Amino acid sequence: MPDQSSTTVETLRWRNNRIEMIDQRILPGRIEYPGFDSAAGVAQAIRDMVIRGAPAIGCAAAYGVAVEALRLSTLSQADFARGLDNAFAVLAQSRPTAVNLFWALDRMRKLHANLLGQPVAAVAQRLLEEAHNITAQDITINQKMGGFGAALLPDKSRVLTHCNAGALATAGHGTALGVIRSAVLAGKSLKVFADETRPFLQGARLTAWELLQEKIPVTLITDNMSGHLMSCGEIDVVVVGTDRVAANGDVANKIGTYMVAVLARRHNIPFYVACPLSTIDRSITDGSQIPIEERSDAEVRGYGGIEWAPIGVSIRNPAFDITPAELVTALITENGVVTAPDRQKIAALFAES
Ligand code: MRU
Repeated sequence: MPDQSSTTVETLRWRNNRIEMIDQRILPGRIEYPGFDSAAGVAQAIRDMVIRGAPAIGCAAAYGVAVEALRLSTLSQADFARGLDNAFAVLAQSRPTAVNLFWALDRMRKLHANLLGQPVAAVAQRLLEEAHNITAQDITINQKMGGFGAALLPDKSRVLTHCNAGALATAGHGTALGVIRSAVLAGKSLKVFADETRPFLQGARLTAWELLQEKIPVTLITDNMSGHLMSCGEIDVVVVGTDRVAANGDVANKIGTYMVAVLARRHNIPFYVACPLSTIDRSITDGSQIPIEERSDAEVRGYGGIEWAPIGVSIRNPAFDITPAELVTALITENGVVTAPDRQKIAALFAES
C-alpha cells in the first residue's frame, strides 16, 4: 500500500485480500474498518457512503474491480471476463456525480483489455497492482496540488471550506484540506472554518474531526452562518474540492457550494477549487450536463434515527450543485493553478500533461 505518512487518517487499507475502508457513516463516534471482497459489496459501500469523496470513490471502485477479479480467478477465461464485465457495470451504477469513479473504472477496463488472453490469476494480480497504483498516485497528486495551493493562502488567513475534501475523501492528504495541510506544513498559521454541510454533515463529522486529529485550528459553523462571517470580515479565502469539472470550468461540488461561491464573490473573497485532473470531465461542455445525484429523503427528514420533519412533507435532496466558472477564482491542479478557468485554459492543462 502507498505511503500515507503525510496524513494521520487512513481512508482505505489492503488487509487479508480485502479492501478495508474507514466507515465514514459512523465517524467521529466510532472508528471501524469493514472489509469488502466483492464488486457488489464495494458498490454498496460507495452507495451507502461508507466511503465518499470523489478521489476516494475512484480508488474504491478500482479495488472493487480488483477484489472481484481475485474472487473469480479460478474460473475459465470466458467466465472471468463475463464476471468482470458485470463488476464494471455494478460499480458504475453506485453513484453518478463524481467522475473519478468512471475515470478509475475506465483505467481498469483498459488495463484488462490489454491483458486479454493471459492466465486469469495473473490478470487479477495485475488489476490489484493497478488499484494500488491509483491509490498511491492519488496521494502524490494531492501533495503536488497542496504545494501549488499553499502558495495562494496568506499566512494567518482564515479559510472557509465546505463538505470534506480531506484525507477522508481521498487516498490521503486531501484536495482542499491538502492545500490547507501543505500550507500548515510550510509553516503558515491558518484558521479553518468548516461548514457543517447538511444533510450528511461531512463538515461537522469529518472535516472537524480530521483537522482536530492534526491540531489544525478549526471552528465549526452551520451552513447559514458563512455569509454573516464574510460580511463581518472574518473569512479571507474559500477552498473547496470538487466532484466533476466541465470542460468550460463549471464546478460540481457538495450541495451548498454554489451559495458559498456567490457569497464569496459578493464579498470579494477568493474562491479556490482544488481539482485533480482526474476530476475534469472534458466530454461535458458545461455544468448543466453534470448528473446531480438525488439521495434519499430520509437524509433530510432527520439524522441518526431521529426524525424532525413532519410525516407527509415533500422533500428534495440534491446532493451536489453547480458553481459557474465565472465565480471560480482559480482551479488548483497537480499541473499548476488555473486562474479564471475557461475552456481554453482547461484544454491547455491537458496539452501539458
Ligand atoms: O457526497 P460526498 O461526501 O461524496 O461529496 C463529497 C464532495 O462533494 C467533495 O467536496 C468532493 O468529492 C471533493 S473530495 C476531494
